Amino acid sequence: MKIFIKKTYEELSKEAAEIVKKAIQAKPNLVLGLASGGTPQGCYQELSRMHKEEGLDFSQVICFSLDEYLELSFNDPNSYYHFYRENLLNHINIQFRNIHFPDGLVDNPTEFSAEYDKKIKEAGGIDLQLLGIGRDGHLGFNEPGTPLDARTHLAKLTNQTIEDNARFFGKKEYVPKFVITIGPQTIFEVKKILLLASGGNKADAVAKFIEGSITPQITASILQKHPDTIVILDEAAASKLKGKY
Ligand code: GLP
Repeated sequence: MKIFIKKTYEELSKEAAEIVKKAIQAKPNLVLGLASGGTPQGCYQELSRMHKEEGLDFSQVICFSLDEYLELSFNDPNSYYHFYRENLLNHINIQFRNIHFPDGLVDNPTEFSAEYDKKIKEAGGIDLQLLGIGRDGHLGFNEPGTPLDARTHLAKLTNQTIEDNARFFGKKEYVPKFVITIGPQTIFEVKKILLLASGGNKADAVAKFIEGSITPQITASILQKHPDTIVILDEAAASKLKGKY
């Protein structure tokens, strides 16, 4: 893992967007994995600006979403599909047919998950995956205890994640308990990974996944073995690391 520590969230976001931009310039039909949550929003804003002001071209880019809540339709304002549209997809020239999402209303989530994994493979695999991290060290919605060799699957959220995400729903009771998420193994197969973490509330998870042991209790720890992972942190998120980076 290559680890970079930036002073502020703004710097972190700009650096992340530069990496995505370079990847698209090197491969215009880049297969890009998108992450939800507050952390990548600054990066998405910067990418939208790069499209508008610098002509960064997304017309051949293919994207896959990391995860989605069950029982929410695409149009639900709390669905991740809606999140990506608001934060990125509506602001760039990506083609609708190149956007792939787990469907929260699917009848058979297990069958759908296997199909989703297959779709990723058929696209040639994900070239670059953006990631945030949960306070318990989860990637996507791979909560503590998820086998590290799991592929895309139906998952149940922990109480902590429900509480953390309640801010988007207004009330804890409104947060769906089940999700479809790309698995740790599916993430591990991505060619290049770009993980972002910001803020002191991520400092424990960051120290554990970078400097602790590789364990299903911290699904992000699988990245220690990944051949091409870049981690960009702000100073607050890096504050509990013991090593010098
Ligand atoms: C959710 C998402 C993750 C994200 C995490 C942290 O659990 N499924 O992909 O990394 O939230 O979100 P935030 O960046 O808002 O802290």
